Amino acid sequence: MPADIPRPWWQGGVLYQVYVRSFADSNGDGTGDIAGVIDHLDHLEWLGVDGIWLSPVTRSPNADWGYDVSDYIAVADELGTNGELDALIAAAGRRSIRILLDLVPNHTSVAHPWFVDSRSSRSSVHRDWYVWADGTPEGSPPNNWISSFGGPAWTLDEGTGQYYLHNHLAEQPDLNWWNEEVRQTFDDIMVTWFDRGVSGFRIDVCNMVVKDALLRDNPPATDADSFTEQMFGQRWLYNCGRPELHDVLRRWRSLADRFPGRVLIGETPDEDIDVLAAYYGRGSDELHLAFDFPFINAPLDADALRQIVAGVERAFPPGAWPVWTGSNHDMSRLATRWAQGDPAKTRVALAMLLTLRGTPVLYQGDEIGLEDIEVPPERFRDPLGVRYWPAYAGRDAMRTPMHWRDVEGGGFTDPGVEPWLPFGDLAACNVEDQRRDPSSMLHFVRSLIALRRTSSDLAFGGYRALDSPVGSWCWSRGERTVVCLTLTDSACSFEDLTGTVLLCSDRTRDGEVLDGGLRLGGWQAAVLERHRG
Ligand code: NOJ
Repeated sequence: MPADIPRPWWQGGVLYQVYVRSFADSNGDGTGDIAGVIDHLDHLEWLGVDGIWLSPVTRSPNADWGYDVSDYIAVADELGTNGELDALIAAAGRRSIRILLDLVPNHTSVAHPWFVDSRSSRSSVHRDWYVWADGTPEGSPPNNWISSFGGPAWTLDEGTGQYYLHNHLAEQPDLNWWNEEVRQTFDDIMVTWFDRGVSGFRIDVCNMVVKDALLRDNPPATDADSFTEQMFGQRWLYNCGRPELHDVLRRWRSLADRFPGRVLIGETPDEDIDVLAAYYGRGSDELHLAFDFPFINAPLDADALRQIVAGVERAFPPGAWPVWTGSNHDMSRLATRWAQGDPAKTRVALAMLLTLRGTPVLYQGDEIGLEDIEVPPERFRDPLGVRYWPAYAGRDAMRTPMHWRDVEGGGFTDPGVEPWLPFGDLAACNVEDQRRDPSSMLHFVRSLIALRRTSSDLAFGGYRALDSPVGSWCWSRGERTVVCLTLTDSACSFEDLTGTVLLCSDRTRDGEVLDGGLRLGGWQAAVLERHRG
């Protein structure tokens, strides 16, 4: 993009995912809520984030914690009111922070009035809004599709004698995106929220919304297929990733383009970088951002990550902008998954996220290096943990409440109130203590974000991999900025570097002037500015 064309806010900015139920509880019921987010905007402004993605806040029976929507326009009672959401948008806006909502177009709740009507009879008004099909003459489901949450993707509705499709829980029936009324209704939902000042959407299982019109069986997985496909024993050919999905993405994009400054971020869980690139469309006419699952799923390893970034740089169409994240409410937190609780590794991971070319998305707690918290089975909330324990503990460990302070209630809820999920070691990791300590993880993250703001190289500059020793990764951004990471226990020497250390994970080295090279210890990160000339 030529330098004189203004960049959209989300390209240079940093996004932050708020898992609302676990961010801050304003009314002492043990569950986070929208007013709690308003109460903690100071923290987010101080940290320097530009946009907040709120996990689902609309009405839901919570079979899958908000991802089973029963009303797309009304805020869930336990999280607040539409008025409070308006107040959050306004209060955040006064701090130049935008609010993004989580949109769930692939499926609704069984309790949604559309589905209640749909299942009421084969001739109901909303029958065709969902995917209904006859079973086989032998009494099996219509095809061999398996739900992402395990088991057949079909449930027989006794009342009408047909099966409905659900690619997740049986409580989450899939909508039929071949139906024009469904498309029109979601256009209206998006417009409603845009009109209320929402700056964009994270779009849930964006890759899945359109299914094969003929509902063909998926073929068996082969060794060439992804880990997930091999685990499920079938290639996900017909139940998701259909070519016609791109028509829907173009439709959403042209709608969003009518509202300046809006952004669409897809949850696009594909392992193939070329498939990922296709979500941006030709000439960037589909998603603005598509979450990079190869990156999230990669080990914290120099070669693996460098290769993924090289793939993105190769495959993305002109103008397409990458997005990087290391944690979310479905994945183990980066401080655990990538760093195994080692703060030095966590710093390297955060430095990487915040200095690659693309938009970083932090998950709440990343900024203090919050780890996964072990949740005892009797306190499981995630239906997947409940269903699969002890083989799989589900996703509660990454959804536990924020650690604001080392006090009873953690600064998250009132003293004496049991939070909906347990805390970890509040004394070892909390916002208040780290804010007092300039050498903390929290200050490191804040400094990285501040640096992005003052450096157009870091915000927008091109990425170029530079030669560096085994186990390290070094790249330049723009004209004068260089990032060096050691992703190994050994020290590494980076040759031919003159300039100034703008920021180092060892904060005592900030400002160091280099004369020909940089030596970093194991698991360290530095951002440098080359001297002119
Ligand atoms: C992806 C969401 O991130 C996850 O939490 C949810 O369970 C599934 N989509 C189904 O909506």
